[in-house]
Amino acid sequence: MKRSDRNSAGGPRIPAGATNEANCPTGASAAEFIPHTASLAVLREAVSNCRGCPIYCNATQGVFGEGPKDATVMFVGEQPGDQEDRAGKPFVGPAGKMLNDGMEQAGIPRDEVYVTNAVKHFKWEPRGARRLHSKPSAREVGACRPWLETEIRLVKPVLIVCLGATAAQSLLGAAFRITKQRGQMITDTPWAPAVTATYHPSALLRIPDEAGREKAFGEFVDDLKKVAKAMKTLVKGHGKPAQSKGHADVTSEVHPSLFGDDARPTPRGRHA
Ligand code: URA
Ligand code: SF4
Repeated sequence: MKRSDRNSAGGPRIPAGATNEANCPTGASAAEFIPHTASLAVLREAVSNCRGCPIYCNATQGVFGEGPKDATVMFVGEQPGDQEDRAGKPFVGPAGKMLNDGMEQAGIPRDEVYVTNAVKHFKWEPRGARRLHSKPSAREVGACRPWLETEIRLVKPVLIVCLGATAAQSLLGAAFRITKQRGQMITDTPWAPAVTATYHPSALLRIPDEAGREKAFGEFVDDLKKVAKAMKTLVKGHGKPAQSKGHADVTSEVHPSLFGDDARPTPRGRHA
């Protein structure tokens, strides 16, 4: 690393052991770095070369989504964490374990769903020798969204589950509030026949008191049970057209009866 990358008196605060983002060439967004392909494997390779925002600068590699290309349900987290950055796979660290626990209690086989993140590189700041998660800005989330849009276009999930506010706000708009709107099935979005949101597993891990953590985990599992129910109904009652060209055919099959009382339209124009 060059000396000029280091923090100096009056300069920007540079994480120890990290590169000054100001020295990292960055494009306008991820869009110009996404290959024109329908292959998730090719996209997975390409994500590490993205320079759509400065986060790549201090990350080990890009972390693309993982799961079956024909998955009915897609889970979207925030961004890779320390362990995901090293492994190159989403949700393999402590948050991943919490997600697995919730899925198991709700009866969702993780290997049947597609799991990805709103942002594909790990943003961090140093805390001693550790790399602490740093929240991506709305601008960075927007810059990275073309990757998520590409995954959604190829996987064509019938239901998208946003884990936490970053994913929810990327797909449902900045006004979305997890605390007020978690568990609702939102059927009027451009992304999929239904989108829902619940807590981010890391948010559960951060709740200090055990009683509070258990209550929130119970709510998390309740939300995931709705997802499990929707998955079963789709497989049993309707199935997903293998050659689905878009959402329209799927929408007419699943909307609105599948999701019960919580299904409700949202005002048009609210979605980012
Ligand atoms: N948190 C996320 O949002 N995604 C991961 O992949 C890991 C932790
Ligand atoms: Fe590209 Fe997203 Fe990585 Fe930024 S975080 S460099 S937009 S892949």
